[in-house]
Amino acid sequence: SSSPALFSPLKLRTIDLKNRIAVSPMCMYSSEDGFANNWHLVHLGTRAVGGAGLLLSEATAVSPEGRISPDDLGIWKDEHITKLAEIVQFLKKHGSVPGIQLAHAGRKASTTSPWKGYRLLEKEEGGWTPVAPSAIPFYEGNPAPEALDKAGIQKVINDFREGAKRALKAGFQVVEIHAAHGYLLHEFLSPLSNIREDEYGGSFENRCRLLLEVVSAVREVWPEELPLFVRISATDWVEGGWNATDSVRLSQMLKEQGMDLIDCSSGGMVPNAKIPANKGYQVEFARKIKEEAKIMTGAVGLITNEDQAEEILQQNQADLIFMGRELLRRPYFPLEAAKNVGIDIEWPPQYLRAKG
Ligand code: FNR
Repeated sequence: SSSPALFSPLKLRTIDLKNRIAVSPMCMYSSEDGFANNWHLVHLGTRAVGGAGLLLSEATAVSPEGRISPDDLGIWKDEHITKLAEIVQFLKKHGSVPGIQLAHAGRKASTTSPWKGYRLLEKEEGGWTPVAPSAIPFYEGNPAPEALDKAGIQKVINDFREGAKRALKAGFQVVEIHAAHGYLLHEFLSPLSNIREDEYGGSFENRCRLLLEVVSAVREVWPEELPLFVRISATDWVEGGWNATDSVRLSQMLKEQGMDLIDCSSGGMVPNAKIPANKGYQVEFARKIKEEAKIMTGAVGLITNEDQAEEILQQNQADLIFMGRELLRRPYFPLEAAKNVGIDIEWPPQYLRAKG
């Protein structure tokens, strides 16, 4: 039998992933003042021990105002680097490539974390006024975010650049720019949240401008030999919103800028979108973008077992499989999956007696 694609290596510039399984970025809402701690070490570390080829940190804020909640992980000051570096070192030691998702929450900032109700924070409890392309709130009737002026836009670009520099110092080997799920960079892309009349709004090119400028600023400080990803929402799932055709056009432009891989998610722009969230529901976007923009893609969303993942790769629909919730349930999924498909991979020696 042919050897499984899921356990074939992937070369990204000078970085080699040992398999095609990536831990999808997942907010842990477990930080204070942006600092990583032992929760992050254990959470990410467990999944490295479990055999994932690539791990992406949760959305990591490039500025305090770019946090969804006060509990978000951050990388806006040098003091954040030490603990991140310790985690990175652990992940590398276990054969996983450490990646970081750099993020700005835009108009979806200043809320409590999900298990505290996801409600807007009041100023008295540490809330702040979110920034966005235009003064349109996510929920109709809520206070409006502040529309960024030119200086504010320059600060965003600079914050991403500085975040990437710190990520490099911490030892991360992949940076993923978060331009999905209704957060700041996606808000600039979508005509539903961007009604600006300057060069950052209006036409398709203008709405793409901020993301392209952020990518170029990050690429300036992120070494040639290391890969850069972007996560997009391939569609808003709303008539008149951002759609899959836009995503192909954007991906072509990103490819010209030296982007290595498009991580294809969807949704998050508006609260009322009708999302057909069934098995592998976003894989089609990874396939379309890979085929039409001729760039590597990652598939994500309700991919839960090795057969499904293998089929996506065999059919050339994506290059990398991102898994989120299933890896929360089964951190050792890659070890288990290798056994199920009959391939012999290296186990952590401490766990060898469980290999069977
Ligand atoms: C997420 N997701 C997510 N996405 C992202 O780009 N940045 C993030 O920080 C988070 N945070 C997050 C937290 C938690 C607890 C979950 C469950 C999800 C989305 C996630 O990366 C993934 O795209 C979706 O969960 C869909 O994939 P699965 O879970 O069906 O494999």
